Amino acid sequence: NLPSPSPPVLASDWRSLRARNHEHAVNGRVSGSGYSWLGHFEWPPSTTSCMKGEPLSSELEPTVETPMVGKSVITLDDLSINQIRELLHKAQYIDSHRKEVAHTCEGRVLATLFYEPSTRTRLSFETAMLRLGGKVIGFAGAQLASVTKGETIADTLKTVSNYVDVVAIRHPKEGAALVASRAASVPVINAGDGGHMHPTQTLADLATLQSRFGRVTNLTVGLCGDLTFGRTVHSLIETLCRFGNVNFVLISPDELKTPRYVLDRIDATPSCSYTEVKDLVSVIGDLDVLYMTRVQKERFFNEDDYLRLRDTYILDEAKMTKAKPDMAVLHPLPRVNEIAVEVDDDPRAAYFEQVKNGMLMRMALESSVVGDELPGYEPLEAKEVQA
Ligand code: CP
Repeated sequence: NLPSPSPPVLASDWRSLRARNHEHAVNGRVSGSGYSWLGHFEWPPSTTSCMKGEPLSSELEPTVETPMVGKSVITLDDLSINQIRELLHKAQYIDSHRKEVAHTCEGRVLATLFYEPSTRTRLSFETAMLRLGGKVIGFAGAQLASVTKGETIADTLKTVSNYVDVVAIRHPKEGAALVASRAASVPVINAGDGGHMHPTQTLADLATLQSRFGRVTNLTVGLCGDLTFGRTVHSLIETLCRFGNVNFVLISPDELKTPRYVLDRIDATPSCSYTEVKDLVSVIGDLDVLYMTRVQKERFFNEDDYLRLRDTYILDEAKMTKAKPDMAVLHPLPRVNEIAVEVDDDPRAAYFEQVKNGMLMRMALESSVVGDELPGYEPLEAKEVQA
């Protein structure tokens, strides 16, 4: 009963490819999973940032960079590589200057509109604003919000824009964050839209790779588990392709393979490559990074399919003995059982570092999109020019 992957399309037909994948997800799994009370939103949006013909590789990076202030972030394609590097640099600065930055966003308010469960993303968005001196409003679970009375996302965002300076939104439908950003008059940050993207998780992942390896390129990155609807996987692959020089090893059962539109992104990046395999043990020794994911129960039509697939991969210490001594194990969390708890004590386990990095990167992003300077911070660009 699992939906089949989108039919192959030419990489040059990027817009229809992406749109088709979204439509497939929206009309397929997600809309069949009991979210009808969530209200409607225009789909597909008339023009979208995720369909605007984004760069397929670093060679195609846009030459004109729009400022961070006031910017909505729906996918990381909304940020240039330089802006992502600047955020990584800011997050490092914030970590070592906690007191200095504690009043950066005084007077600002963040809204967290979470139509889907979350622990890390919502709490870290909120903690980030609180640690910068701002305040937070919002809801966790839409049952008490006016969407239950039939309010659209657009109307909710037009309303909330009057109250706050920045919005973080999570929604089970692909494209919902984009619709929200088009209705809002303040920056909107996608905190996860269905099986599509999770850009701020990718910022956390990049920060973790940077701290473990001192780089985010020249790596062999294994991604393992539900590669079909693991939105963190899609965001991470697309972004690493922009940095370039990554060899992806995509480890999944046939039913949970990487969507074609993501593979096309790799194909369109000359310095990147991928292989698709089913067996984790046979490839673990080749990896610099193993990015584990949980099977996304909430996106399945029926429980039998989920039960059949959920235990496909379980990383334990026995498997870790076959891995490189400096391989980093990442996981966006929450985990179910795909990483045995015994692995937590292995120095290669980096998933709780990712959690910390997620908060720091959200501090960097929130202060940037509302336009508040971090006291004492020297931009990366200025430093490089001086050097
Ligand atoms: N990584 C992540 O998105 O976790 P939550 O679902 O708890 O926010």
